[in-house]
Amino acid sequence: MALPSLHLDINQPDFIRDPYDQLTSLRKEMPVFHDPVWDKVFFTRHSDIAALLKDKRLGRTMLHRYSRDEIGWPPPDPREVPFRRYQDNVFMDMEADAHSRIRSLVTKVFTPKRVESMRATLETTTHKLIDAVQANGSCDFVHDIAEPLPVIMIASLLGIPENQLQHLRPWSNAIVKMYELGYTDQQVQEANRAATEFMEMIGAIAAERRIKPQDDLITELVQVENQGDKLTEDELRATAIFLLNAGHEATVNGSSLGLRALFKNPDQLAAMKEAVAQGNTSLLKTGIDEMLRYETPLPMFERYVLEDMDFNGVQLKRGTEVALMYISGNRDEARFTQPNDLLLTREDNPLLTFGLGTHYCLGAPLARLELQVLFSVLFTRCPNVRAAGEAEFAKGFVIRGLNKLPVNL
Ligand code: HEM
Repeated sequence: MALPSLHLDINQPDFIRDPYDQLTSLRKEMPVFHDPVWDKVFFTRHSDIAALLKDKRLGRTMLHRYSRDEIGWPPPDPREVPFRRYQDNVFMDMEADAHSRIRSLVTKVFTPKRVESMRATLETTTHKLIDAVQANGSCDFVHDIAEPLPVIMIASLLGIPENQLQHLRPWSNAIVKMYELGYTDQQVQEANRAATEFMEMIGAIAAERRIKPQDDLITELVQVENQGDKLTEDELRATAIFLLNAGHEATVNGSSLGLRALFKNPDQLAAMKEAVAQGNTSLLKTGIDEMLRYETPLPMFERYVLEDMDFNGVQLKRGTEVALMYISGNRDEARFTQPNDLLLTREDNPLLTFGLGTHYCLGAPLARLELQVLFSVLFTRCPNVRAAGEAEFAKGFVIRGLNKLPVNL
């Protein structure tokens, strides 16, 4: 079957803010299409995305199966060498044994017990952030609360000294620009600089932890062993940086988009406040997942087709890039009842927000805990919190979030 062709201008501000009508039409009329500008095959239905994420004929890279020559990839861009020293050691971009080797080492130390041990610190930190703004009667939720909270938490989990905290956000911002479709030379240079400085900083902390171990994840990553296997120095540094980045970018956006969604649905906002006031943790839990389904902070991930294949009648050639629209699957009427309604009590909620399959988000328990604690402390401390103006969306679709969410407390 020849695929229909369509260009989806995902970077248009209107699309970033509200892609839902267009995605609904696509799911109905053109659920799979080739975009000639991005040269990718887009999938918009929940069932297709879920099936492809579990299909071993696709991968986040092809380099575990083929050489660059075999697949016609140009040599790595020499301008990106410093950035690649980081990125090539990020296990999320690996497949098969290389991926499972590092993922299992990290899983040994980034445990549910360690995540749960963060709860008290999370609560104290959230209170402190609210203390700092409550007397003003208003704040920018993104800048004052949503952004600092996950940064402080992931940094304290890893063991980054407080006096280094100010670097994390700018370095991470520079690095993630490389994940958007299309980036400038200047963005490459900024990502190179950020990756180099970040790798050096982690290297220095790891060296200290080797001499004097502490109760933190960098110490554990330095020490972790699986049947004699350990992380190399570059793997250790890249893994720590990746955890720091993955550990806050999406959480910042998830909580800000979530609060905006509550503001736009006053009955659900009231239900959430009521649940918090009554200590109804089950609504808090289903509610957080529902906010993360309703607004997807990481709307799209890609995979390579590793071998020529037939997928439900669609012929996909080896080397094709597929773009999986998690944001669209999350609103699929074939999978969710009332997909465009925010329903905090939703129980049957197979959200795609954290992905599926071998790359399923390792930090999902931490992200969920952070959002639960944040909203429960926020609504306890500020039961009248409300919007104080329009939210401002950030540029970029692949990492989708707000620059600003003014609130009255
Ligand atoms: C609301 C917040 C978050 C969202 C929406 C999110 C989403 C995702 C998604 C969709 C993936 C899979 C990517 C793919 O399918 O290709 C992923 C992977 C990952 N996430 Fe998260 N994430 C969040 C928070 C976190 C946190 C707090 C951490 C950790 C500290 C984290 C660590 C990771 C890691 C390590 C992977 C790679 C897993 C692998 O490739 O095996 N994430 N995340």
